[in-house]
Amino acid sequence: MLACCRQGPSHEIERMRRATSDDTLNLLAISGSTRHGSTNSALLRAIAAHAPDGISLSLFTGIQSLPVFSPDNEGERTPASVQAFCDQVCSADGLIISSPEYVRAIPGGLKNAIDWLVSRDEIIRKPVALAHASHRGDDMLASLRLVLGTVTERFADEIFLRQALVSLSSEEVEALLCTDTAVRDIHDYLNRLREYIRQSSH
Ligand SMILES: Cc1cc2nc3c(=O)[nH]c(=O)nc-3n(C[C@H](O)[C@H](O)[C@H](O)COP(=O)(O)O)c2cc1C
Repeated sequence: MLACCRQGPSHEIERMRRATSDDTLNLLAISGSTRHGSTNSALLRAIAAHAPDGISLSLFTGIQSLPVFSPDNEGERTPASVQAFCDQVCSADGLIISSPEYVRAIPGGLKNAIDWLVSRDEIIRKPVALAHASHRGDDMLASLRLVLGTVTERFADEIFLRQALVSLSSEEVEALLCTDTAVRDIHDYLNRLREYIRQSSH
């Protein structure tokens, strides 16, 4: 799965270590919202907090530090922040993206991050699933599904976790997602994603 990595020896050692001795599934979560009190980010943190054994989720927080994508700045001219982002994508066994809808579309920062990945190897076979922190936003979701179905062969469209959290504070989200039902939904979501990654890895 990690054959796409373009990095040096330390990443290769990490790849081998995980392949041989650590069965933990390492997922990278990306929030489309950079808002401090983001419900999408809070949803991703709750998914991480309640992940079942053997699944680890870390949140990428650098979307706002990525420059606007330009094909002129790929290859050797790739900015350091973009390279760091791509390294994290490369190292992850899969991605979970949770995003708000802005003006019936994908927020610019998230689309920009995806644009940086498009001509690179990291994303082509990367498993990706969506979560969403609103009962609204279906235009954005349709667009994001189209984009992700284009950039990766392993977009798990049917694996989706939706929670109606609009306008709640991070603390309220945390409390709401501590219930037995919510934790069971998170386990079910992540277990299905793990199974998808396993089955689609050949
Ligand atoms: C600039 C802007 C545009 C928005 N446009 C929409 C929209 O088109 N449809 C919608 O349902 N919500 C829209 N919203 C509301 C956000 O999607 C909603 O508040 C979401 O829950 C925010 O996610 P967050 O808590 O992760 O930041 C918009 C919010 C902002 C700030």
